[in-house]
Amino acid sequence: MRVLGIETSCDETGVAVYDSEFGLLGDSLYSQVEIHERFGGVVPELASRDHIRKTLPLIQEVLEKSGTTLKEIDGIAYTAGPGLIGALLVGASIGRSLGMSLDVPTVGVHHMEGHLLAPMLEDNPPSFPFVALLVSGGHTQLVRVDGIGRYELLGESLDDAAGEAFDKVGKMLGLAYPGGPRVAKLAESGTPGRFTFPRPMTNRPGLEFSFSGLKTYVRNTLAEELAKTGEVDDQTKADVAFAFEDAVVQTFVIKCRRALQQTGLKSLIIAGGVSANLRLREGLQAMVEKEKSALFYAKPRFCTDNGAMIAYAGCQRLLAGEFDGLEINVRPRWPLDSLSPIQQSA
Ligand code: KG4
Ligand code: ZN
Repeated sequence: MRVLGIETSCDETGVAVYDSEFGLLGDSLYSQVEIHERFGGVVPELASRDHIRKTLPLIQEVLEKSGTTLKEIDGIAYTAGPGLIGALLVGASIGRSLGMSLDVPTVGVHHMEGHLLAPMLEDNPPSFPFVALLVSGGHTQLVRVDGIGRYELLGESLDDAAGEAFDKVGKMLGLAYPGGPRVAKLAESGTPGRFTFPRPMTNRPGLEFSFSGLKTYVRNTLAEELAKTGEVDDQTKADVAFAFEDAVVQTFVIKCRRALQQTGLKSLIIAGGVSANLRLREGLQAMVEKEKSALFYAKPRFCTDNGAMIAYAGCQRLLAGEFDGLEINVRPRWPLDSLSPIQQSA
């Protein structure tokens, strides 16, 4: 089955063609970062309007790139939520209309299920069951995954998502949006040990997260430096970025180890934008080796939002016989553990 995937839940238009027999045939991404940069965050209405401009040309481009004609498309998958409602409606309307005109089934995909399954696109994919750490701009969740649609939430953030914390700290350090990759870059020249930030909620049992206290710690540290010396120099900013990233990584290492031990599972996958973070990958890799477990993740461009993960997840659901009714539905809020399980075909 050959599936066209469309992702428009936030500030990236992603399109891909995935074939259940031949794998990923082509994908393209258009990032709206430049549009939103000067506002310091995503402006929903601007996002929707730009998705309208970009989605059809991107579909055309990916079809050409993957040597696929519209007639060869057997199904269409689009992100139905969670996300910005206007942005979601663009992908859903285009996906559903194209499906109707081609007379092929369409399916609305859960964005985080897409992220969660992205490591399946790699050469050495994980097999079920596994523990998944989902870390994006809007979500921080630990999930037990027993199959597609068989998700048990083990713990999540009580306040900010990890990516959101990275972005807010980026802002405090005077970095452009999105702060995550920029904080990571700045941390490379940071001095280990100059600052040590707390690892939130690691001293008590459980698998919940909280990042707002850590964020405040960063703000206070920068304010103290400013009061002391009258400025926050570049080296200090890098040292703060290092300490922040280190605290986030160590928090995830502690909680993921706990999740593996509690579930008795031996595979950990990380997915979502923050899973592109190199120090997070290194920290978790060292931990799983000690736990005699294995770590899986997607290549960096499939960690952040993309069409390939939606095409893949949609293909699995279409193969299992799922498809939309006549109405166009999107769900800005949509709990991952409310999804229905499918027959394992991955
Ligand atoms: O999954 P994603 O592309 O979009 C959402 O579904 O939210 O995640 C975006 C988030 C942003 O907060 C961004 O700053 C963060 O992922 N991010 C990173 C890195 N690359 C992206 N955070 C830390 N280190 C990175 N290398
Ligand atoms: Zn995402």
